[in-house]
Amino acid sequence: MNMANTTLVEKFRSMDYGVAPEDSGLALAWLDQFQRRFGHFIGGAWRAPTQGGYFETSDPSTGDKIADIAQGSATDVDAAVKAARTALQGWQALTPHARARFLYALARQVQKHSRRLSVLETIDNGKPIRESRDIDIPLVARHFYYHAGWAQLLGQEFPGYQACGVVGQIIPWNFPLLMLAWKIAPALAAGNTVVLKPAEFTPLTALAFAELCIEVGLPPGVVNIITGDGSTGEALVVHPDVDKIAFTGSTEVGRAIRRATADSHKKLSLELGGKSPFVVFEDADLDSAVEGLVDGIWLNQGQVCCAGSRLLMQESIATQLTRKLQARMATLRVGPPLDKTTDIGAIVARVQLERIEGLVAQGVAEGASCWQPDIPLPSRGLYYKPTLFTNVHPTSVVAQQEIFGPVLAAMTFRTPAEAVELANNTAYGLAASVWSESVNVALQVASRIKAGVVWVNSTNMFDAASGFGGYRESGFGREGGREGLREYLEPAWFRKAPLLGRGAGAGPAHSAESALDPPAGAAIDQSGEPPIDRTVKLYIGGKQVRPDSGYSIECRSAKGVLLGEVPLGNRKDIRNAVEAAGKAQQWSTTMAHNRAQVLYYLAENLSQRAQELVTRLAAVVGRRQASRELKLSTERLFSYAAWTDKYEGVVHSPPYRNVSLAMNEPIGTVGVVCPEATPLLGFLSMVLPLVSAGNCVVAVPSAAYPLIAGDLYQILETSDMPGGVINMVTGRPMELMKVLAEHDDVDALWCYGDEALCAAAKRLSAGNLKQVWTNEGRQIDFFSERHGEGRWYLDHAYQVKNIWVPYGE
Ligand code: NAI
Repeated sequence: MNMANTTLVEKFRSMDYGVAPEDSGLALAWLDQFQRRFGHFIGGAWRAPTQGGYFETSDPSTGDKIADIAQGSATDVDAAVKAARTALQGWQALTPHARARFLYALARQVQKHSRRLSVLETIDNGKPIRESRDIDIPLVARHFYYHAGWAQLLGQEFPGYQACGVVGQIIPWNFPLLMLAWKIAPALAAGNTVVLKPAEFTPLTALAFAELCIEVGLPPGVVNIITGDGSTGEALVVHPDVDKIAFTGSTEVGRAIRRATADSHKKLSLELGGKSPFVVFEDADLDSAVEGLVDGIWLNQGQVCCAGSRLLMQESIATQLTRKLQARMATLRVGPPLDKTTDIGAIVARVQLERIEGLVAQGVAEGASCWQPDIPLPSRGLYYKPTLFTNVHPTSVVAQQEIFGPVLAAMTFRTPAEAVELANNTAYGLAASVWSESVNVALQVASRIKAGVVWVNSTNMFDAASGFGGYRESGFGREGGREGLREYLEPAWFRKAPLLGRGAGAGPAHSAESALDPPAGAAIDQSGEPPIDRTVKLYIGGKQVRPDSGYSIECRSAKGVLLGEVPLGNRKDIRNAVEAAGKAQQWSTTMAHNRAQVLYYLAENLSQRAQELVTRLAAVVGRRQASRELKLSTERLFSYAAWTDKYEGVVHSPPYRNVSLAMNEPIGTVGVVCPEATPLLGFLSMVLPLVSAGNCVVAVPSAAYPLIAGDLYQILETSDMPGGVINMVTGRPMELMKVLAEHDDVDALWCYGDEALCAAAKRLSAGNLKQVWTNEGRQIDFFSERHGEGRWYLDHAYQVKNIWVPYGE
């Protein structure tokens, strides 16, 4: 009996997989129909490139050429943008239902041709057919189905919103067709037309998709595909007739695009790199965690922006987990991607393989221990062994840089707090995976990791309904879900709002009446004696503080009467304020009910001082505006107190055994440059949504009437607002904005001003890629409830984090 068992086990162990190649015949025949030479897809037809000729796309598993691909020039891009612009009106004139039918037809067509698309993806990219067949293409279809639904519901669910217009989309090579779906489906559902540029290494499935657009009868010009390299992408980014850019790719190129679009009104979303932590606690099911790692870092050869590339192990299980992991790595099969038994396919291109080799060599040089299993690699093609680094220092290259290859860097931690600290010790913030059998530990840690997606006891799961996107240098904006659709929409009124004229933004909006008002405020003293000098200070960390510079600037009334002086804040003051905001972050975890109470209390105290405030404000903006500002400010405080516990997340039900909790999280520390013309109402309209959401703010009050800071901090001081939640630094907006934009600990910047100020805010923030929200130099009527408050503001005050929680045994 024993003997027989041993033999069976031995036999089982010695058994090898046979060869199980996927048939590529139909996909190759499809390529042959085009004589393996592809032009651009513009205005519903194929067009040869005007200049630039063709470049080759090849199969990374063999090095063999697959086809010639058109290199897009600026002229080609221009033709595609023109086609998209021409198609826009007709596309928008369709009913939402008609657009929904097109998206539905695209989903069906993807399903009908799923095998061909999978094979094309695999031969162009090198990923295992199992992945393209079972992950990529089904998710592509799901994305079009899901967004067919949004197209149908658009009018009901987004009243008052309109599409951005012509959208330029640039995608990478790691999930070529899936990234196309993530970009095109929401854009079309929202009523935009599209020019998409696939990556130069992997253009084939985008071209196959163009064929599907013809097959479903999509109106010409609604989708245009331009192929080419980075220069083609650049031409699309700078094209003046593009209304929005959506980009997925490297952080470096993301930065360049941020700068290149700063001086335009193009809306921008960036999905960039990552260095995602994979955190394993001692009570985790270690075997499951090992399988999770196989999906987390070896999916798609590790060329995944959200790959779990940093393994953080609790010290007590580190040795055991490492042993289990190495045993599993030794069973991974690296081989031809079209073979259905292959786990790890080919690296997309030689340059990428060299990048991986270079970074691994740096890791070794830095002293980390590098381990690879003794498994064979095919003799031809671009392959790399699964690789494990241990003994990694948290600041080393392999722990910090995105390698984008099958390379895992392992580190240890002792406590959950240390795990969170290590997990957040990165410039990125795209995803994380947390493994623990304790729901308390897992959810607590998930909530504290700064990442757009956190998978509990699972990894690399995606669904069209659950938004995906990053914090910090992983970019901004979301793809998927309601929040992803918002990236392609704007309030209709906002596009039409007039630009602040030169100087119009700089001064208050004087009502006609104001010129007739007697001078009011501090300059008047009934007794005839000189008024007591009113000294306003900066307000930092809940304290009134003197400015670093020791200089003040004058504040005058509409009629030129000196009303008082305010400190001239500088770089150091902003830094102090940012530090104070950083220390006040517990505001984000203060219960919403309590945050609301503070805002109600502020309203109470504001209304008690109404008379005095109106009198002072009237000297600058006239009595009528001052009274309106006061009245609406109190209402706005009530509004945001109300919203505090009502702008809540949702629970998604993805088609797996998971729920995903879409939590609305505050962004962190936000710099705010406030409108000039409405010193009180404008300040509160921008600061309150942020504070209601749990952010801490460093605000630059109206440059026309910065004295408002003095009134505001007195009210704050009597309203239980914790010190550091709202900080105020008066001074020159452009100078102070620059410091806020460049400061690494400022997580977002809201900037209201003329076009020059808004453009500078976007350009200067490119360094750390913080999210910037501006009025685009347009005038916002803060007296209007529709324009001046509500969801549009809150949508920008929060970012959505999706926490995936499994259920079942
Ligand atoms: P990349 O960022 O250069 O390419 C992504 C896309 O942007 C491609 O379509 C490319 O043609 C286009 N592009 C390049 N330069 C451009 C420019 N100046 N303006 C507009 N479009 C431009 O990424 P690359 O060089 O292929 O990979 C380099 C590294 O980037 C990888 O090793 C990886 O670390 C990271 N990466 C991250 C991705 C992600 O999904 N987050 C995807 C691809 C790469």
